[in-house]
Formats: sequence, structure tokens, C-alpha cells
Amino acid sequence: MAPARTVRGSIKGTKHDFTAVYNRKWPHSYFRAHLAVDYMIPDRAKPVFERIFADYRRVRKKTRLKIIDVGCSYGINAALLRSELDLDDLYAAYLEPNGSLSRRKEVEHCAFFRDRGLRDDIHFVGVDPSFRAVRYAQSLGLLEAGITADLETRNLTLEECSALVDADILISTGCVGYATERTFARVYEASATSRPWVVAFAMHPFSYHQVAAILRDFALETKLVDRFRQRQRRFSTPEERQAILKAMAKLGIEDRLERTTGYIYASCYISAPPGEAL
Ligand SMILES: C[S@@+](CC[C@H](N)C(=O)[O-])C[C@H]1O[C@@H](n2cnc3c(N)ncnc32)[C@H](O)[C@@H]1O
Repeated sequence: MAPARTVRGSIKGTKHDFTAVYNRKWPHSYFRAHLAVDYMIPDRAKPVFERIFADYRRVRKKTRLKIIDVGCSYGINAALLRSELDLDDLYAAYLEPNGSLSRRKEVEHCAFFRDRGLRDDIHFVGVDPSFRAVRYAQSLGLLEAGITADLETRNLTLEECSALVDADILISTGCVGYATERTFARVYEASATSRPWVVAFAMHPFSYHQVAAILRDFALETKLVDRFRQRQRRFSTPEERQAILKAMAKLGIEDRLERTTGYIYASCYISAPPGEAL
């Protein structure tokens, strides 16, 4: 299987580029850019994560969970999984003209999430080099801690490592490809004593092969769960569609859904000590 870096190279220049909206003070531009291509993976992933959290609680006999979100951005998975909100609620809250979440008053953003009664039996630590986004999510209380490092290029500090200990589950949406096995290895190593599970959605055509390989070094077994495959977003242009379908064909990834629906899908991978998950 081709490494994520090779896959990234094969669609470079045609894959839609969202990077300009990743590291802003406020999330509005992020939501506008993602709604434009009907980005929905955090919403589609929510019931899958909830199912896995319930399995994990039963197997490990735990109620309070510590979740590490790799590529946490503005705390979107945390907001969805700690409340009854869905992604459309967030799109509306941020994008509605004259809506309640303006670019001026952080206190209104805090109140918005506080009024939705964020549950505190699930707490989140975010990992994302987009430090403004992570700061936003932390200051609203969506994330308990944030690691604003690019772990593709450097090791964790001792302080960052201590934020990752006692983790229960690592999750990720929309980030595999930016984050490769290097990041997952560093994050897992720092949290390995509690043997967390890993649940990640990898957009096609990004391969998870190398991530699964490093998780095997930590004695985790990775399963691709076909029935949990989900829509990520629409193709942004015909050129992007062509490049992604070409890369998928080259890698032998089945593309029936992409060919017929106009959407790009993400595969779901679940890693756990043998016999524990599913
Ligand atoms: C498409 S967004 C997904 C955000 C969120 N998980 C969601 O699904 O809405 C991709 C995120 O990956 C982050 N990212 C880019 N490079 C990264 C890296 N090396 N490690 C972790 N996150 C990274 C970006 O800053 C951005 O927040």
C-alpha cells in the first residue's frame, strides 16, 4: 500500500485546499468553506463513535472517558459528542446572518455551548498544529487540553506527553493524510500504558496501512469496518473527482459510491487489543 505522503502527492494540486481556514481566530470561515462542499464526516461519524464508546465502557467497565482527537480543529467532534447538537446546528449557529455567534464576543460562544449542557463524562484533549483553532476550542471548554504541535516533524515535550496519559480512545476525522503514522505513533506512545483504542475515518484515497502497522507494534489489531464507511464531502470540482478516482483505481480502492453519488467517502478503522473491540 502506498504511504500517505505518496497518495498526497498523487492528488496534490487538485484536492480541494482548505488550509487557509484551519488556523483562524474564529471558526466561521472554516464552517463556510466546509459547508460549500457539504462536509459531513463529523456528523456521520458521531453515531459510530458513540457505538464504540458504549462498547469500550462495557469492556473496560468505565464511565468517564478521556478522548484524544487527532486533528481536532475548532473542537467540532468534542462539541458533537458532548451534546445533542448535530453538524447542521453548528453550520446554522456560525453562518446564520446576524446569528448569535458573532466574530466579536467569545462570551456568547461559551454561553451557546454551556446552554446545550456539555456532558462531562467525556472529556477531550485535542492535537492539531492549528493553534488558534485549538485555543478557541479550549477557551470554550470543548477541549480540556490542547497540543498545538505538528507531530509529523517533532517529538512531544514532557508536558505534552502528560496531557495524553490515561487516554481511553483516540479518534480522528478529516485528518489522516495530514497526520500520518508518525503522528499516530507519537500520540499512541505517550498514551500507551492505558492501551487506548483508536477509531479513525480516513478519506479515500488516503491509506491507513502504515498507521495500522505502527499500531501493531503496540499490540493493537486494526479492523477496517466496511459497514461504518461514511460520506465525507462532495467532490469540489470535476478535476478533483478525476484525480481522486484515478488514485483510488491505482490503489485498488472500490469506487462504486464515489462514481455514483458525487461524494467522497471515508473508511472507518478500529484498532484495539485483540478480542476487545467489535
Ligand atoms: C478537514 S480538517 C478536520 C477537522 C475536524 N476533525 C473535522 O472533521 O471537522 C483537518 C484538520 O487537520 C489538521 N492538521 C493538519 N496537519 C496536521 C497534523 N500534522 N497533525 C494533526 N492535525 C493536522 C488541520 O489543522 C485541520 O484542523
